[in-house]
Amino acid sequence: MNSSDLQIVAIDLAERSYHIAIRGSLFDNPLSYVELPAAHSALIVTNTTVGPLYAERLQRALSGKYPQVHTVVLPDGEAFKTWESLNLIFDALLGHGCDRKTILFALGGGVVGDMAGFAAASYMRGVPFVQVPTTLLAQVDSSVGGKTAINHPLGKNMIGAFYQPLKVVCDLDTLKTLPDRELSAGLAEVIKYGPIADMDFLGWLEANMDAALAREPAALAHIVKRSCEIKADVVGQDERESGLRAILNFGHTFGHAIEAGLGYGEWLHGEAVALGMALAARYSARRSELSAADADRAAGVIAAAGLPAHLPTLALSCDGARLVDHMRYDKKVEGTTLPFLLLRAIGNAYVARDVDLADIAAFLDAELHS
Ligand code: NAD
Ligand code: GLY
Repeated sequence: MNSSDLQIVAIDLAERSYHIAIRGSLFDNPLSYVELPAAHSALIVTNTTVGPLYAERLQRALSGKYPQVHTVVLPDGEAFKTWESLNLIFDALLGHGCDRKTILFALGGGVVGDMAGFAAASYMRGVPFVQVPTTLLAQVDSSVGGKTAINHPLGKNMIGAFYQPLKVVCDLDTLKTLPDRELSAGLAEVIKYGPIADMDFLGWLEANMDAALAREPAALAHIVKRSCEIKADVVGQDERESGLRAILNFGHTFGHAIEAGLGYGEWLHGEAVALGMALAARYSARRSELSAADADRAAGVIAAAGLPAHLPTLALSCDGARLVDHMRYDKKVEGTTLPFLLLRAIGNAYVARDVDLADIAAFLDAELHS
């Protein structure tokens, strides 16, 4: 694929349909926003890291179309995905006299995107918004599909709404300033699409991981486009996660337990998901549903991306039962049962509702001592 070609991925959701535009030199080009509805004002929502890098250029690009372009800068980090930060967005909207046509622009990673989306869903009962994702994770996953949320002290992403953007503008050039660790964390959500949906894509990642880590433009362009295509297909079939969309949570139940059990802030979300995927693959092999060779293959791609595929020895103070306890605070809990995303083969994920949590605890104990 030529990285200078504009790639468009469509999300087909009837009257809520939209496009994802993928290329370099996009976010600060007024043409990227030409089809958006007219409005008296726009509000850029960003954070203290991304704002100084990119907000002024976005403001300039929007200023020919919107008479007033305001910016609100939130504190950076998952710890600030809170009511307090959300309220800063409402303060800015009300303080600037923004109306029901005002368009929000989420400029940043998944944290900014999830919060700006939730603010857009609830300000004056809903105003339009555009995602301008600047992390790999946000470009391949969080900016697409309309899940918006903030955290609650008792659980991650527990307060939110399904609310689709008008457009997603993935500017590959913004990935140049992303720290290496964040790039790898984004690759976790990219790798996810192989085991759940596309064996060929997993093979492509095995062959091209070095190019991805070196941020070669053609490799990044293919990664973002293929990931968005797979996500668009899944979301188009099941927007509100009544079935199929659950496969996008592959590795997340184990991952959330790792984040909570080993300490929020120690692990990036993508790192925990990566280890969660390796564990889910090995647990699928333990149930004799996936071959041990395929479980090893999944772990190999994860490790090649510089991501953890095994529980670290420092976790020895933590046992399987404690990790399982953390799984009980999961949005996927159905009464007393917890569905698990498992694999029958690479490219064939399914929801298992017969998983015994005592067996998960025993599996995790074995993993901790292997
Ligand atoms: P993030 O938003 O915290 O960004 C990671 C770090 O990179 C931050 O410090 C950020 O300021 C910085 N950053 C962002 N863009 C940059 C750039 N271009 N250059 C330099 N630094 C940059 O984290 P994330 O990994 O993007 O997103 C994680 C969040 O996404 C979590 O809250 C998770 O729950 C959410 N999420 C949501 C969905 C969804 O469907 N809505 C899916 C997956 C994850
Ligand atoms: N990232 C999971 C989803 O969008 O459903």
